[in-house]
Amino acid sequence: MTNSQSLGNTMPEKFHWHVLQDFINKYGWTRGAELGVRWGQTSLYLLENCPRLKLIGVDLMKKQPSNLGPGKETYQKWPWDQYEAAVSKIEDDFQNRFKMYRMRMSQAAQMVADESLDFVFIDGDHSTDGVSCDIRCWAPKVKPEGMITGHDINLDSVRAAVDWFFVDKWDTEGQRWNWIWWGWKKDMIESGPCDEC
Ligand SMILES: C[S@@+](CC[C@H](N)C(=O)[O-])C[C@H]1O[C@@H](n2cnc3c(N)ncnc32)[C@H](O)[C@@H]1O
Repeated sequence: MTNSQSLGNTMPEKFHWHVLQDFINKYGWTRGAELGVRWGQTSLYLLENCPRLKLIGVDLMKKQPSNLGPGKETYQKWPWDQYEAAVSKIEDDFQNRFKMYRMRMSQAAQMVADESLDFVFIDGDHSTDGVSCDIRCWAPKVKPEGMITGHDINLDSVRAAVDWFFVDKWDTEGQRWNWIWWGWKKDMIESGPCDEC
């Protein structure tokens, strides 16, 4: 499949958490991060189905009323009390394997050692600046042979950032699996530090 093709809104054969699970099993990964947790649907699936995985979750877990502009989301209508309860339960149930940071992605990156992760899954602020900032702040946390992956490549704003960092080196196959994208860190352009955050 080329970058310009898609299969529209048909129900995917796999969701992004299945694709991540396949990678984790295939490469024997044990360390990863999910940027943008919401109520923990993806984190929970991975923790339940990948027993050797230790996962970092990052999410502000609150409304962001000032998050305005193209591709931005304020999360004003989301039921944060329910989401918080669900994420707290995952923390309780997986105390030794799940570490949650309730803060901005850029702040949380400072808590994580460089080149310590097998993969990072980016699913937070879907604006071009937001995805770019997350790639810049979190790519250094990934091992040289590791993977940068994320969600919603169907959005032009996400696609612009991914195209910029990976040019034509990101894998388009995930477009049919609920719009996951991925690329290898070694195939990224030299990005330099983030000056947006
Ligand atoms: C699309 S949801 C994540 C969905 C989740 N990955 C899943 O698979 O179910 C995006 C999340 O990113 C969080 N978020 C957006 N921008 C953020 C930022 N700059 N720092 C921390 N969290 C952020 C929001 O609070 C929201 O919960």
